[in-house]
Amino acid sequence: VPERFETVEMANLDWKAAYNLLVSAIAPRPIAFVSTLGTSGVANLAPFSFFVAGGSNPPSLAYSPVLNGDGSEKDSLRNARETGEFVVNVVHREMAEGMNRASASLPSHLSEWDVSGFTTLPSSQVRPARVAESLVQFECRLFQVVEHGAGPGAARYVIGEVLVAHVAHELLRDGVIDGTVIRPIARMGGPNYVDTGAMELFQLQRPK
Ligand SMILES: Cc1cc2nc3c(=O)[nH]c(=O)nc-3n(C[C@H](O)[C@H](O)[C@H](O)COP(=O)(O)O)c2cc1C
Repeated sequence: VPERFETVEMANLDWKAAYNLLVSAIAPRPIAFVSTLGTSGVANLAPFSFFVAGGSNPPSLAYSPVLNGDGSEKDSLRNARETGEFVVNVVHREMAEGMNRASASLPSHLSEWDVSGFTTLPSSQVRPARVAESLVQFECRLFQVVEHGAGPGAARYVIGEVLVAHVAHELLRDGVIDGTVIRPIARMGGPNYVDTGAMELFQLQRPK
């Protein structure tokens, strides 16, 4: 009988190959579009598909900004750690291109808000702004950063407590979110995404 499985010892893969394997198999992933504020006042915006809801008592979520190729920390990690605050915005199809533009690696003193084209909306309990175009925004207070590994691709789990949720009225049926109208997009491996509104795949190339 032919062997059905290719068995991969992960220790034999470099971090990029390990990344490709994980993100192709663990899919589709929802996207946390994370708004933070640097201590110098620069507003940062970046998408993260290493994103999960946790428990609900208290309401909890986590996203993982991995360490950069040069081993440095992403702004979304440093800002969340230094200020203890962030906002997670849910992303739907009409936001996809702007969200992708915001994933460009800009120097820390420049704001992704400017290239993304999105509109800021003040938050009620934290300082980072909400994305006005997003249909659900979660204001979060940092609970803990969990560090796993060191060097390029190492995980940093930013765990937050959800303090406030803002939900567009159009999503609500009898006061709760109608799961059939929120239609978030989700990331698959490579340039592939799924639009849960149309139930179809689409592709976006990362900006240079
Ligand atoms: C849809 C999408 C999902 C992404 N998910 C992640 C992720 O989960 N973790 C990560 O470290 N980078 C992820 N990235 C890349 C970051 O958005 C990118 O590195 C960004 O420049 C980080 O910004 P910052 O340094 O301003 O925090 C993703 C990019 C896109 C387009």
